[in-house]
Amino acid sequence: MLNISVESTDSGKKKTAVLCGFVLEKTNQVIGLGKIDSKIDQAIKESINEMEGKFGKIAIVNTLGKIPAKRILLAGLGQKEKINNDSFRFVAGKIAKEVRERNLSDFAIIVPNSSVCEPSLSVSQIVEGCKLSLYAFDEYKKTKTKKSPNLAILVSKASQVLKIAKSAEKISDGVIFTKSLANLPPNVCTPDMLAKYAKKLSTKTKIRCKIFSKSELKKNGFGGITAVGQGSKNEPRLIIMEYNGSSKSQKPIVIVGKAVTFDTGGISLKPGEKMDEMKFDKCGGCTVFGIMKAVESLRLPLNVVGIVPSVENMPGGESYRPGDIIRLYSGKTAEILNTDAEGRLILADALAYGEKHYSPKEIIDFATLTGACIVALGTNVAGLVTNNQNFAEKIKNASQRTTEEVWQLPLNDDYMDMIKSEVADMKNIGIGRAAGTITAAAFLKNAVEKTPWVHLDIAGVAWTQTATKEKPYNPKGATGFGVRLILDYLTSKN
Ligand code: BES
Ligand code: MN
Ligand code: ZN
Repeated sequence: MLNISVESTDSGKKKTAVLCGFVLEKTNQVIGLGKIDSKIDQAIKESINEMEGKFGKIAIVNTLGKIPAKRILLAGLGQKEKINNDSFRFVAGKIAKEVRERNLSDFAIIVPNSSVCEPSLSVSQIVEGCKLSLYAFDEYKKTKTKKSPNLAILVSKASQVLKIAKSAEKISDGVIFTKSLANLPPNVCTPDMLAKYAKKLSTKTKIRCKIFSKSELKKNGFGGITAVGQGSKNEPRLIIMEYNGSSKSQKPIVIVGKAVTFDTGGISLKPGEKMDEMKFDKCGGCTVFGIMKAVESLRLPLNVVGIVPSVENMPGGESYRPGDIIRLYSGKTAEILNTDAEGRLILADALAYGEKHYSPKEIIDFATLTGACIVALGTNVAGLVTNNQNFAEKIKNASQRTTEEVWQLPLNDDYMDMIKSEVADMKNIGIGRAAGTITAAAFLKNAVEKTPWVHLDIAGVAWTQTATKEKPYNPKGATGFGVRLILDYLTSKN
C-alpha cells in the first residue's frame, strides 16, 4: 500500500530517502530545488550534463548528509514545448519504479510551478503515474513484488491541490480495480465470480446491485446472453450496478461493458495461437467495475448505472451454432453465422435493457469487440463509433485530457445494410473482412433506439500486446483503459 501526502515543505528541508525533481532538456537545474552545497550542486550539474534532461531519463546523486534528503533523483522531462497531458504521469511512473527497485521506503516529488505546468494539471498525473506504476499482479506468485514506497508531494500551496490529489488517488484505485479483475485467470474469474465482486462492491457503499441468473435471463428474453452462455458449465450472468448520487428525477448515464470471461470462439473455434489472451475479453466489463468504484468513492452528484453482461464462450454439446436464429432482448432476431462474433450479441441485450429500464441521458459501452480494430488502429488507440456526434465530441475532449486515445470511425446506413440477413432481422457478421469494427458497431446500433450512444472498441488497448507502446504506468497485462477517460468526462462541465 502506497501512502500519499501533499505538503508545502521546503524541498531543502524535507527528510526523505530520495528527493525527486524534474529537469527540462537544455537546462542545468532541477526545477524547484534551491542551492545545497557547492560540492553537491556541482555533482548535480554533472549528472544533468550526462542525462541532458532527456524525457524519461533518470539519475541519482547522493547528498552526503548536507540536507535532510539522503539522495536527489533527477527526472528528465524533455523539451518544455513538448510537455503534454501524459508527460508527468509517464515520468512520475518511471520515478516510482526506480525508487521501488532500490528498496527505498519513501520518496518526495517536487512539483514544478505554473511556469512549467499548472500544478492542478501535474499533480493528478503524478499521483496516477505513481499509483498505477506500482500496481503489480502478483497474487498467484510466491515471490512478491517489492514493497511500494510512500510518496510525499511537495508543492508551494498544498491546500490548493490536496483535493486534486485525493481525487486522483480514488480514480487510480478504480483503474487498479479494473486491472486486478481483468488480470484474473479464466478458471477463477467466471461470470458468477464477477457477479460476486459486484455484490461485494455494493456492500458498505452507495452502490446497489442486481444479478440476473441463467434462468432469469432466459425467462426475461435475453436471447443473446442466453445463447452465447449456454455452451459453458460456467453459467452466464447479467450484472447491474446502480449508483444514485443525485435525485431520482435525474436521468442516469448508463455504462455497459462486455465481459466474456474466456472467448474460445465457441463452435467457430479460434486458432490456438495466443488464445490465452482471451481471458482479457472481459476487460470492457472490468472497466465498468472500476468506473463504478471510483464514481462511488468520489460521491459524484450524478446517477450512473453500470451494466455488465458476462458469459464464457465455449464449444460443447449445448453450444449455440452457426445457422441458429435467436431473438434478442430488443425483440429483433439475429442469424448467427459465426459464434466467435459473440460480444455484439450479449452487448445488444445489455444496451436494449439499459435503454428500456433507465431511459438514460446517454449510453457508453466498452468492449474488446473486434480484431479488426487492431488492424485499423493498432494497440494504442481505441475505436469510437456513435449515433450522436455531439456526445462523441465530449468523449473526445475527455480523451484529449486523459491521453487515453480514441479515433472515430464512420457509421452510415451503408454499413447498416452490411449486416442485413436473408432469414432474420440481421446477421451477426458483416461481409468478409470489410470494416469489421464498424459492422460490429452497426449491430449494436440496432439495440439503441433513441439515446445518444458512444461505443468504444478497446480490443487493441485493454491489455499490453506486442505492439503496445511501453508506459511505466501500464505494467504487462490489463491497462484499465477507459476508467480515467469516463471519470474525466463525468467530472467535467461540458
Ligand atoms: N473478442 C474477440 C475480438 C478480439 C480478438 C479482441 C483479438 C482482441 C484480440 C471477438 O469476440 C471476436 O472474436 N471477434 C471476431 C469477429 C468476427 C468473427 C466477425 C474477430 O474479430 O475476429
Ligand atoms: Mn469472439
Ligand atoms: Zn470476444
